[in-house]
Amino acid sequence: MKRVTKAVIPAAGYGTRFLPITKSVCKEMLPIVDKPTLLYIVEEAVAAGMREILIITGRNKKNIEDFFDFTPELDSVLEESGNREFLDISKKMENIANIYFVRQKHPVGFADAVMYAKPFTGDEPFGILLGDDIIYTEGAQKPGIRQLAESYEKTGKATVALMGVEDKDIPKYANVRGRALSDRLVEIDKIVEKPRAEDKFSNDAVIGRYVVGPDIYDAIERTPPSPKGEVYFTDALGLLAKEGALNGYRFEGLRYDAGNKLDYLKANIEFALRDPALAEGMREYLFALTRKL
Ligand code: G1P
Repeated sequence: MKRVTKAVIPAAGYGTRFLPITKSVCKEMLPIVDKPTLLYIVEEAVAAGMREILIITGRNKKNIEDFFDFTPELDSVLEESGNREFLDISKKMENIANIYFVRQKHPVGFADAVMYAKPFTGDEPFGILLGDDIIYTEGAQKPGIRQLAESYEKTGKATVALMGVEDKDIPKYANVRGRALSDRLVEIDKIVEKPRAEDKFSNDAVIGRYVVGPDIYDAIERTPPSPKGEVYFTDALGLLAKEGALNGYRFEGLRYDAGNKLDYLKANIEFALRDPALAEGMREYLFALTRKL
């Protein structure tokens, strides 16, 4: 199978859970320590060999485009002051990948956003990475989306990321029914968006990483809209599942939910603890704090 080299990042949502900040700063630009959450996603795609990246934005998302652009004023100040380290950081953002943008005209959901990628992906398979899910991998672990891409490249089937969750968390995610082909690979025959815990098929929840082929567009077009009028991406995957064309992959790595305030704060603390410049100060602070509580 052809190697997956393209990635699509839907980033058109309003980010209402993070109001008031999202009135003027889009949620993809909220930082974990000093990097916007979107940069973690872009870095994962690049590390996975996907250097052609389409970001699907919407109104009020201009600061995403500015972030990946040339910043002449800032760079010349850094150059004059001889601040090489910061200059390198700034320059790295402009050249990180070939990033393309398209605006979703009305934010009417994930499946509609994916349809905007059709001219970009053509006949090729591609990764889809949702910005709220940050996947941290270390050591020999491959980037989350590469793990799925390898599964796609071997099997030729669309592959979704799976993570085991507790019953109380079942209603937050798409849930799958399937047959384990190995420790990590699951052949999925049914997938349902956010069921009640008592209606679960399994404790395998879908996390926002997908590798799909061009047949996904046809699947979206064949999917009837929900009673609310929106075509759900998960329902389109459901058609593939019914046709024996969907796998799940229980990925290796730690996942953070940057779309939820408490988890977002936890991610900031954990990434700070991994940063050699901050680790000691943060550890001391947390230690002192727990003694006060
Ligand atoms: C989206 C998807 C859902 C998936 C989840 C993973 O839901 O619709 O199928 O399980 O991401 O984070 P959201 O969290 O945007 O409501």
